Order: sequence, then structure tokens, then C-alpha cells
Amino acid sequence: MNQEEPQRRPGRPRKHADLRAAWRAASAAHRRRKKVAAYHMHLSDEWCTPAALLTSILGAAGREQFELDPCSPSNSGPVAADIHWTKEDDGLSRPWGQRFVWCNPPYSRVSDWTAKCKDEADRGAQVVALVFSKTGTRWWHQNVSGCADVVLLPRRLKFSRSDGTLASSAPFDSALIVWNHRPLAQRLAGDLKGHLILRL
Ligand SMILES: C[S@@+](CC[C@H](N)C(=O)[O-])C[C@H]1O[C@@H](n2cnc3c(N)ncnc32)[C@H](O)[C@@H]1O
Repeated sequence: MNQEEPQRRPGRPRKHADLRAAWRAASAAHRRRKKVAAYHMHLSDEWCTPAALLTSILGAAGREQFELDPCSPSNSGPVAADIHWTKEDDGLSRPWGQRFVWCNPPYSRVSDWTAKCKDEADRGAQVVALVFSKTGTRWWHQNVSGCADVVLLPRRLKFSRSDGTLASSAPFDSALIVWNHRPLAQRLAGDLKGHLILRL
């Protein structure tokens, strides 16, 4: 006669202790997946600006909309702007003119985009950009420090998906960078309770 324990079917724990262990393992895996997803969110170039933040910026600027969004998922929004350029249009390779510009760039190329913001501001554009606060990076030192006014935002943002729903808080701090429009930077710092660093 075979004395061995009958084989348990995989994935079907029998005892209470087994069930508890299985539940613990499943919830630990779930927490790990959430952490990894939050950590990697900055690797996506498609996160959109929270609508409430755009409303505050336009309100502080006394405008209904921006004149240009040079990095947009579509030619019609989601940002309120006269003109939207997509990846296909390539907003990096076009002149922005002396427009009032909103720029929440693809973070994978934040160095190129902040350099473009700075160059276009040198040619007369007024640019507001939303980037992560990475004050020790080369791009920050070359394109932001000493070139623009900065509003460090007090809370981590919940970025928006393309369907308008909000994600959980970003795993990084954010800043608004304002080239060529000091009164706007000052108003934004007050309205958003941010910390203002003025260009010297
Ligand atoms: C972080 S999202 C910002 C979207 C929107 N402007 C906003 O503020 O909610 C950056 C967008 O830029 C687009 N993009 C990437 N490379 C681009 C390029 N070279 N020219 C224009 N748009 C680009 C991406 O497809 C993405 O939709």
C-alpha cells in the first residue's frame, strides 16, 4: 500500500495557516507591483498635466488658453491651447515664435526640451514648463538655474491619464519653470503656495 501523502493540487491550500500564508504572499506581491508601477511612472512620456493645475496657471496669467502646446498627445488637446504639436509634428524642431507656451515635456528627453524652452525664451517666447525638480542635474544647471524663475510645488502631483482620470501621487517632486514672465511666476508661487526661486 502507498504510504505517501496524497498530492495536494497546486494553488489550492487546505489549512487555515496555508490560506493566511497565501493571502500574505498575494498582498505582498500586489504591494510590490504598485511600488514598481509608481517608481516607473516617470519613464512614461504620456502622463498629462492635472487639469486643476492648468486652470490655476491660466487664471494666474489672466488667459483663457495658451498660444502653443509644443508637446501634446493630439492636435486638439487636452491642454487649452491655440496650437498643439504632436510627436509627428515634432515640436522640438520647430520655432515657437513669441508665443505664450505651455510645455510638459516627455521626461525621457527633458534635457533637450528644457534647452529648447531656454532657446525659444531667448527669442522672445514666454514659456511655462512642468518638470521634475532635479536641481542637481546638468540640464537643470544649464537650462533652468539663472535662466528662469522657478516655483517648487509644495505637494506631489497626481498626473492624469489620457482619459482624464488621475493616477496616484507621482514618486517625484515637481516644479514650474517660467522663462520670460516674472509676474506670472510670482503669482503662481502665491496661488499654489510654492517656493519661488527668482533668476538673479
Ligand atoms: C508629458 S506628455 C504632456 C501632454 C500635454 N502637453 C499635457 O501637458 O498634459 C508629453 C507629450 O509629448 C508628446 N511628444 C513626444 N515627443 C514629441 C515631440 N518630439 N514633439 C511633440 N510632442 C512630442 C508625447 O507623445 C506626449 O503626449
